[in-house]
Amino acid sequence: MIWTRLALDPVAADGLGGMPATSYQVSWQVATNERFADVVRAGAFTADPSAAHSVHVEVGGLRPGREYFYRFRTGQHLSRAGRALTTPAHGADVAALTMGVVSCSNFPAGYFTAYRRLAEDRPDLVLHLGDYQYEGGGNGTGRQHIGPETTTLAGYRQRHGQYKSDRDLQEAHAVAPWLAVWDDHEVDNNYAGDVPERVTEQPGFLARRAAAYRAYYENMPLRRTSVPRGPDLALYRRVAWGGLATFHMLDTRQYRSDQACGDGYKDCVDAADPARSLPGSAQEEWLLDGFRRSEARWDVLGQQVFFGRRDNDPGAATTVSMDAWDGYPASRQRITRGWVDAGVRNPVVLTGDVHAHWGADLRLEPGNLESPVVGSEFITSSITSGGNGYDKPDGLHPWAAWNPDLRFWTNLRGYLLTTVTPAAMTTDYRCVPVVTTPDAAAFTRATYVVEDEVPGLQEVAANPRRTRSAPPSDEQIIADTIKAES
Ligand SMILES: [Fe+2]
Repeated sequence: MIWTRLALDPVAADGLGGMPATSYQVSWQVATNERFADVVRAGAFTADPSAAHSVHVEVGGLRPGREYFYRFRTGQHLSRAGRALTTPAHGADVAALTMGVVSCSNFPAGYFTAYRRLAEDRPDLVLHLGDYQYEGGGNGTGRQHIGPETTTLAGYRQRHGQYKSDRDLQEAHAVAPWLAVWDDHEVDNNYAGDVPERVTEQPGFLARRAAAYRAYYENMPLRRTSVPRGPDLALYRRVAWGGLATFHMLDTRQYRSDQACGDGYKDCVDAADPARSLPGSAQEEWLLDGFRRSEARWDVLGQQVFFGRRDNDPGAATTVSMDAWDGYPASRQRITRGWVDAGVRNPVVLTGDVHAHWGADLRLEPGNLESPVVGSEFITSSITSGGNGYDKPDGLHPWAAWNPDLRFWTNLRGYLLTTVTPAAMTTDYRCVPVVTTPDAAAFTRATYVVEDEVPGLQEVAANPRRTRSAPPSDEQIIADTIKAES
């Protein structure tokens, strides 16, 4: 699936990219080398104003497990080349896969340096776990969103145009194929299904969601199976990387039960109602079915919100995020139980949303040290959301004192660089010390590994950094954590 969009003025207020209201022929080429000396596939696509001149081409006839390069031409305009890898053949042995895992790129919060550093690491695949863009109006530290809060098709299209104009983000798109799923900010903060953040916005919310979904489809490398129909877009999907890994890419926004007890961090009995679901019952069934049929060495859940338990209350009460899996414990239990019952060899959850790097062990009964570890979770920080962060030398969040499943944390911006082999999944927590100025160097704050058939994280290396701001008190860290997620 190769993607581009024609735009003479990507941030035009009408969202149409400064393009005349006419169709254009776009030719495309796929080659085995960057100089296009050996073009193996070529064709043409009609870019239509009704789709904001976006171009989505599903290229057939390529060999599995190979590197290719692609580019587009229309009239005098020739695009840069993008690099792509085809998935390995069904069940094929794969020695290694290196992937970047990213989320939460808020333009006004800072420079997208982490995207550029990820591109320099040259991954085979990029997983974007949501909050690709943010819906709010201007007001940043040096960088501003153009236009007010996005609520219309023109507004969402213009916003995508602004993000796609960012040079650092362009590098990340060009270096590798992307598997992208959204979170909330592509539409509206903390929305759930057809329920917006603010009740007063309820009338008309589905029209807003339809506009956001349509612009998302137009601007992301999605297949025709994801063409939106009104306020609905089929986003969750499975992608196999040979016999090495199966990616179950989840959509935890479109079908979820509304957050219990009015959202936020709560001690909430209603949250445990087994009728409630985070993925929605159809997606939950689809996921459980995927576990039962899996033959992969690694089963990876690419999704949005924190899967493990994070209890904010050191005492007997349980105060957890109603927006994350903690707010849907029965749904989480069905999934954890599902992979245990299906004998899934190595379940690993990849997560975004929380604007900090975390690592967690997943137990059948979260937080109970008597209960076996049955899976692992790597959580990526934001590209920029939250602005410049801070590090804490011991790499532990204050919550780890009474949440023993929480194994690693740092409040710095960055991405995960994860290498998967048949023997192990190794994650480098890549960080940039600053995002309010451009071009910071990246460094690896810590490395954790999950070994084949040994669920849970093992520390390989730790590299704490003195950052501009020293870590604040535990109380302040907890306040910052909750604020970043609200
Ligand atoms: Fe976010």
